[in-house]
Amino acid sequence: MTHFLDIHKTDPADLRSMIDTARTMKEARAGLPKGTPDADQPLANHMVALIFEKPSTRTRVSFDVGVRQMGGQTMVLSGKEMQLGHGETIADTARVLSRYVDLIMIRTFEEQTLLELAEYADVPVINGLTDRTHPCQIMADILTYEEHRGSIKGKKVVWSGDGNNVFASFAHAAGQFGFDLTFTGPEQLDPEEEFLELARSKGSNVVIERDPQKAVEGADLVVTDTWVSMHDAQSARERRHNLLRPYQVDDALMSHAKPDSLFMHCLPAHRDEEATSSVMDGPHSVIFDEAENRLHAQKAIMRWCLGK
Ligand code: CP
Ligand code: NVA
Repeated sequence: MTHFLDIHKTDPADLRSMIDTARTMKEARAGLPKGTPDADQPLANHMVALIFEKPSTRTRVSFDVGVRQMGGQTMVLSGKEMQLGHGETIADTARVLSRYVDLIMIRTFEEQTLLELAEYADVPVINGLTDRTHPCQIMADILTYEEHRGSIKGKKVVWSGDGNNVFASFAHAAGQFGFDLTFTGPEQLDPEEEFLELARSKGSNVVIERDPQKAVEGADLVVTDTWVSMHDAQSARERRHNLLRPYQVDDALMSHAKPDSLFMHCLPAHRDEEATSSVMDGPHSVIFDEAENRLHAQKAIMRWCLGK
């Protein structure tokens, strides 16, 4: 079964081909109304389940629109309203859904839920975010970087802030796409060492630099994310803000990156917390291209999963 569970679990040649497919499909639709069907209709007669155990705007809408553009049909399911949220096992849910649909996308809490769903499903499963990783987002981000600046190979990516699930998928991508990655943030919110080691083992130069200004020197891409993720306790909010405030991405910090550096944020953002509005709406920012590219990248991921 061809699941898309994480970037490090997918062959680099397949990842490259997905990015290229996404770009070609995007270009073919340029200027068309969003509801225009794609000419080849690769998902014709296919049914896709989109399961959400956490809130979503981009993931939900981009998957739904993407399936429809490719000729398939979707159902968007809330985990809470499914028997899954009332004690039915993941394994049974996977077996049952596999009798109705051709592809499952899930956004969930525990990584184990995703892995079990994939283990017991007879259809491909796509990771739409867990507490640990967010691979679809980073596929969109690679597409976005390369549209603006060409190949990401050998480039310096700097993450400023919380060592969270989105950072983890950047670390996975560093190993697979061959870029260097610097993490700058407070020690208390460091990413898991395992993510850094894996990227290093694949030849990526991955470093931790506590001084944000030093970290962004020579950066081709600066990235941040919310200081409090959906899986973080709201009671930790104040502590996190205090720890992360020195890592806010503002114009002063961006001035230490390369003059043609890009700024990314997966969104949703808390404006003027993790990044100032002047950066988010400024000349380096490509945040809305990233959001758009969720659509194109995921269409390519779904085609790959289904062998289309
Ligand atoms: N970036 C992202 O995954 O956004 P949503 O939470 O809105 O899906
Ligand atoms: N790190 C954030 C990403 C949201 C798309 C979260 O998990 O809430």
